[in-house]
Amino acid sequence: MERPLTQFIHPGCPPFDLREYEMTGGYSALKKALAGMTPLEVQKLVQDSGLKGRGGAGFNTGMKWSFVPMGDAAPHPKYLIANADEMEPGTFKDRLLLEGNPHQLIEGMILSAYAIQAGVSYIFLRWAYKKAAQLLRKSIHEAYTAGLLGKNILGSGFSLEMHLHTGVGRYMCGEETALLNALEGKRATPRAKPPFPQVSGLYGKPTIVNNVETLCNIPHIVNNGAAWFKGLSNSEDSGTKLYGVSGKVNTPGCWELPMGVTVRELIEEHAGGMQNGYQLKGVLPGGASTDFLTAEHLDVKMDFGGVQAAGSRLGTGTMVVMDDATCPVGFVHNLQHFFAQESCGWCTPCREGLPWVEKMLMSLEEGSGTAEDVELLQMHTQLLGPGNTFCALAPGAMEPLQSALKYFREDFDRHIQLHRCPYENGHH
Ligand code: NAI
Repeated sequence: MERPLTQFIHPGCPPFDLREYEMTGGYSALKKALAGMTPLEVQKLVQDSGLKGRGGAGFNTGMKWSFVPMGDAAPHPKYLIANADEMEPGTFKDRLLLEGNPHQLIEGMILSAYAIQAGVSYIFLRWAYKKAAQLLRKSIHEAYTAGLLGKNILGSGFSLEMHLHTGVGRYMCGEETALLNALEGKRATPRAKPPFPQVSGLYGKPTIVNNVETLCNIPHIVNNGAAWFKGLSNSEDSGTKLYGVSGKVNTPGCWELPMGVTVRELIEEHAGGMQNGYQLKGVLPGGASTDFLTAEHLDVKMDFGGVQAAGSRLGTGTMVVMDDATCPVGFVHNLQHFFAQESCGWCTPCREGLPWVEKMLMSLEEGSGTAEDVELLQMHTQLLGPGNTFCALAPGAMEPLQSALKYFREDFDRHIQLHRCPYENGHH
């Protein structure tokens, strides 16, 4: 790749400590901002860069920050939270950032906290990321010792405390308002929005929750500017993106690439193409809660607008490839099992609907399903869709189901005709 990358990724390599990070220019953005930029200037720079949230929703980061009350009359303290509760099935990009270069996240957090004038920050970390937890603890300690965290950072007058909080392994905690409840020690159920956390978040105070990858972009934007960040991309959406591919491809993995690479480039070049004997049947472009794309979508650009125009969402950008030897009904059943298990139970459509959907898919997969079940499944994709639930969990769960019914309907019908799974012997 000709263009410079914004991030350092070292899967399997020893992580950077503070000295190594500083040798590669680490913390120079923080020094630059604290010495010569006002918080609003940092906000404006990030807004101008066009950075959109990398957690899955793609909301403009600078705009999100701009909703935080500023000035002496603003509520106090304000909070900055790194959402490191990465649990979307198929998604493992933030883990590489956390394990490869924890100081990059810490620098991004200090800069973001400075931009919104937050005094306290938390990293909400997925419980299973034990290695990341250990590294973050060490790195936060190093940063405090070097005067990069705590009172009067580098003599600038700006102060920030940073805490690591490890979750208990619930998917729900990645939803930003459920995360806030969990941090407050309450049951992790989502809150009504509005008010958005930017105005009333942790303990009712202004709070920004940003994804790990989003925050890791900030030092590079501050160092190199908005135009540089835009120029890294091949698309309307700025910057680079961590893309991943899993499934029966030759070299599954995760790569930092210009925003807007095509599905084909990712699968054929970076993931080395399909393994011998397997054909691509479907692709979930950004984690399990996105709609399937198919072989006819190989030239779709993997940016927010491109994937949306094709009928899905970029989501986390880490795609799951489904091959022609895998039963789509079984595949979707497996996903619905996950979503049903992870429903927090707060709203009825999600709590009751997802287990019902899971049961219908199981009976279809076992050969006892009927045509009526398929109609009922179709109906549930509406009943559990956007607007009918408290948060995005159930609507997200319906995305792979509704698109499987659209693209792989024949497979559902064959289960009914044969009274068994046509895939049970591998290749059909
Ligand atoms: P959302 O679109 O409701 O919100 C995204 C962000 O923008 C939030 O911080 C929200 O506060 C802010 N926002 C949205 N509308 C706003 C407005 N009108 N005013 C002020 N702020 C506003 O999406 P949500 O529910 O936060 O995230 C859903 C996404 O998360 C899904 O698309 C899915 O792809 C992704 N996801 C990622 C996971 C992971 O492990 N990375 C796990 C589960 C889901």
